[in-house]
Amino acid sequence: MTVQRNILCIGAGYVGGPTMAMIAHKCPHCRITVVDVNPDRIAAWNSGELPIYEPGLDQLVAATRGKNLFFSTDIEAGIRENEIIFVSVNTPTKTFGLGAGMAADLQHWEKTARQILEFSRSSKIVIEKSTLPVKTALAMERILNTRANGVHFDVLSNPEFLAEGTAVRDLENPDRVLIGSRETERGQKARETLVEIYGHWIPREKIITSNIWSSELSKLVSNAFLAQRISSINAISALCEKAEADITEVSRAVGMDSRVGAKFLNASIGFGGSCFKKDILNLVYLCRHYGLDEVADYWESVVKINQYQQERFIRNMLGAMFNTLAGKKICLWGFAFKSNTGDTRESPAIFIARRLLEEQAEIIVSDPKALKNARADLAGLAGRIDFVEDPVLAARGCHAIALLTEWDLYRHLDFQAIFATMDKPAFIFDGRNILDHRRCFEIGFNVYPVGKAPLTHF
Ligand SMILES: NC(=O)c1ccc[n+]([C@@H]2O[C@H](COP(=O)([O-])OP(=O)(O)OC[C@H]3O[C@@H](n4cnc5c(N)ncnc54)[C@H](O)[C@@H]3O)[C@@H](O)[C@H]2O)c1
Repeated sequence: MTVQRNILCIGAGYVGGPTMAMIAHKCPHCRITVVDVNPDRIAAWNSGELPIYEPGLDQLVAATRGKNLFFSTDIEAGIRENEIIFVSVNTPTKTFGLGAGMAADLQHWEKTARQILEFSRSSKIVIEKSTLPVKTALAMERILNTRANGVHFDVLSNPEFLAEGTAVRDLENPDRVLIGSRETERGQKARETLVEIYGHWIPREKIITSNIWSSELSKLVSNAFLAQRISSINAISALCEKAEADITEVSRAVGMDSRVGAKFLNASIGFGGSCFKKDILNLVYLCRHYGLDEVADYWESVVKINQYQQERFIRNMLGAMFNTLAGKKICLWGFAFKSNTGDTRESPAIFIARRLLEEQAEIIVSDPKALKNARADLAGLAGRIDFVEDPVLAARGCHAIALLTEWDLYRHLDFQAIFATMDKPAFIFDGRNILDHRRCFEIGFNVYPVGKAPLTHF
């Protein structure tokens, strides 16, 4: 097939890798190169063991790699040889200086912009794939269009809405694709180029276009709304525990209102992941920058409730286990921030593990995909930590199981056999409300769900 478009993606992470693999799969006429500063990551993308776990990703990469999908560390050649450049570098929360703990750290993004300027010999379309504060495109345009050498850059915003764990499915069949551009003739022409690429597999009515600032802001607001739903239901779960109501019953009644909808209404230990917290704090920072303190306080409370919910989970454990965890063995089922991913960034499990160690409990960490990341997250912490992949073996001799990630496999274990190997009284703290609580109770466990009355034998 004749190559009609040469596409580069800078940043081979959770977004850049899967997104480019999907474009390569759907657009065989495009030649796609993904570059990264991290040579280990690129080596992993080129190996049999990809750097991230995502259902369906292995097959997608196997079908395209070496044909029209390439992974490389040669950023300079990549910029020179490609006419369309996606920028998908990380934009974490700033940890230093003005805005520390709130604002986005744009150093990787700005470095990339400067590299694009330095190595470009022809005009390019530059696409913001990373999640960025509003008006970042303006800064990008200012950096890129500083040289009067006939090379012009059109900047588009095309935020990514995929969810880890379902990335391949989301990329194949997204709810929408958003493309923001300048309203100029050049801006619209650039936008049409990107619309044409997505149009190879996404129905035209799902590809929405907007002004560039709306596009940048829509990504932050989408994540803020999703996280807000989790914090809303988690706040009510605390009330349910006091008022003898059941959060699952409340969620069902509320979610059946078609104006509200049933999704994202499960009470839990709270949200994690690299995006929700950072993007809300970014939104909060923007609001404060514009003097909108009431609006900033409103959104900041979503993050505060999330923290409160995790601390509440620890307090419930302490209360249930006779106010001391010292010397007790507690098995953590799941460490990833959600199921079907090995990603542990901002996982509630990190906070919970840390707090349990502070209480001088011994912890046994179990997860089918995230143990490597868990080891790195917990490295250097004082206390006894073991890592055991098999959840049944991990629970052996423990006083309690804390279920922290909603992996499907935990639903189907032999709880009778697990109970027999545990120290008594045995406890289950179901931080995701996925187990059959009544059955576990009948086997002999003391069961503590989130947002409903515990089932205990005392
Ligand atoms: N992870 C998600 O689910 C998700 C979903 C939607 C949007 N996003 C956004 O997408 C962006 C990327 O997220 P991610 O999870 O893929 O991050 P990531 O950390 O997994 O990947 C980013 C990659 O960029 C590379 N990089 C950094 N600076 C570079 C440079 N100057 N040149 C080349 N490579 C460079 C890093 O080495 C890293 O491999 C973020 O802005 C994030 O908010 C993430």
